[in-house]
Amino acid sequence: MKADKIWMDGKMVDWDKAQVHICTHALHYGSGVFEGIRAYETDKGTAVFRLKEHIDRLFNSAKILKLDVPFNKEQIRQAIKDTIKENNLKSCYIRPLIYRGFKELGVNPFKCPVNCAIAVWEWGAYLGEEALAKGIKTKISSYARNYINSTSQKAKICANYINSIFAKMEAIEAGVDEAILLDTRGYVTEGSGENLFWIRNGIIYTTPTATVLEGITRDSIIKIADDLGYKVQEKYTGRDELYISEEVFFAGTAAEVTPIREIDNYQIGEGKRGPITEKIQKKFFDIVKGKDEEYSDWLDYV
Ligand SMILES: Cc1ncc(COP(=O)(O)O)c(C=O)c1O
Repeated sequence: MKADKIWMDGKMVDWDKAQVHICTHALHYGSGVFEGIRAYETDKGTAVFRLKEHIDRLFNSAKILKLDVPFNKEQIRQAIKDTIKENNLKSCYIRPLIYRGFKELGVNPFKCPVNCAIAVWEWGAYLGEEALAKGIKTKISSYARNYINSTSQKAKICANYINSIFAKMEAIEAGVDEAILLDTRGYVTEGSGENLFWIRNGIIYTTPTATVLEGITRDSIIKIADDLGYKVQEKYTGRDELYISEEVFFAGTAAEVTPIREIDNYQIGEGKRGPITEKIQKKFFDIVKGKDEEYSDWLDYV
């Protein structure tokens, strides 16, 4: 993972020189917010998928964490495009980060400055190309998802991800690809970095957003599924409903649309990518690659 330049507080900095002070507040306490965005190669050039929605979520995350962003939305949008151009990337992953920098250490963040950075790099399928076609193995995590009143699910806060990291480490060490976390009541939430969908009797279900990140891919999948004529419903459910679902899949910027073929050693459906998942996945990739005119307003060309 490497590119040429990283945008830091308004300047392009060499990848190897993009450094921070060891006493950076966010490094000690996780007091930052970030985004994960993808840009895809299309026939009309590089296009960022749903850039407006990602920037809106970034600023909402900053608002929740009381970070006064020293740039406006249009400046961040332009900086993202400039960074992609500067690195000559046709397709890439984009990681904007707004964080408490260094002035004083201690839990009180208010004295520390707010810094911004944007890194971009070439990145293929998050869980592997084979995962997109054949599906992945997962397990229900022994870690409960961040409790709704302990942090914010609407904000993509760095520190929130320690919960995901514990779940991911446990999953990897158990020999599966990804974790599915339950909330403190035992209801299904999401993966370590993906929203969850499951299909029963032809109806597509997903978790309400009170206990999960308001995923932009999740929102896209709901619209795509609706346009394809499927019924989509939000509901809380237990792990057992997933075991007997016809199809289960993850949706997220990194994971895109990744089928799940196994949960806790239970085979899901036929143990491979299901037909509805495949239809949604195909339409999703057509859209992000600019092959579907109907959704052209989801693409922001670099
Ligand atoms: C915890 C969590 N849930 C869901 C998602 C999916 O969100 P999006 O589709 O906006 O990438 C992500 C990734 O950002 C995530 O980290």
